[in-house]
Amino acid sequence: MKQFLMNLFGQPNGLLGSIGGKILASANKEINQWTVSLLGVQPDDRVLEVGFGPGVAVEMTSKIIKDGVLVGVDISEVMLSQAQRRNAAAIQEGRVKLILTAVENLPVFDHPFDKIYTINSIIFWEQPVERLKELRSWLKPNGRIAITLQPRSKGATDEMAHMEGEKLVQYLQEAGFKPIRLETKNMKPVSAVCAIGINA
Ligand SMILES: C[S@@+](CC[C@H](N)C(=O)[O-])C[C@H]1O[C@@H](n2cnc3c(N)ncnc32)[C@H](O)[C@@H]1O
Repeated sequence: MKQFLMNLFGQPNGLLGSIGGKILASANKEINQWTVSLLGVQPDDRVLEVGFGPGVAVEMTSKIIKDGVLVGVDISEVMLSQAQRRNAAAIQEGRVKLILTAVENLPVFDHPFDKIYTINSIIFWEQPVERLKELRSWLKPNGRIAITLQPRSKGATDEMAHMEGEKLVQYLQEAGFKPIRLETKNMKPVSAVCAIGINA
């Protein structure tokens, strides 16, 4: 069952992953929109998304960015092709660059970022605090990171979402972000949380 869910949503793979991407595109649309709005993306921002999945938030962000760029990294080939298809025009125009790699193996980027975000992906990362420290090193001074989670396990509750949020705040503190705030979105079937940290 665990491997089934990993192939479906964790690191979408094969036919199952292709179906998983279509489910994610619809199921996560609202939290994608919410996260992008909390980040306050500006037209000239350089933005990094980790774990872009089917590329729905990439599409939303790229509509705001006119003179900036959105760089995305994801470990899944299936997600890369879905996101490439969804964002073909913006990729062609050079406003979106999507890279197949794990957050544990980030490339050397040519510039730091104004904003970084990740949605329902951090639970799959190895050593998340170490990853967040590295991501902080790629943020400009006063740059912002947003980490969103909506628990999706069977029987997940708002209380579980709140606990996940507290854990995200702790991760951000340990990675050196300050100040940090936690936002909650009441939604069905379960609330979502977004921890936002500044690279002060
Ligand atoms: C549950 S999906 C969420 C996708 C998308 N953010 C959304 O909101 O629909 C998790 C995504 O994180 C990616 N992912 C998992 N582990 C990763 C890692 N170590 N590095 C980069 N991406 C990873 C998966 O391939 C998948 O696309």
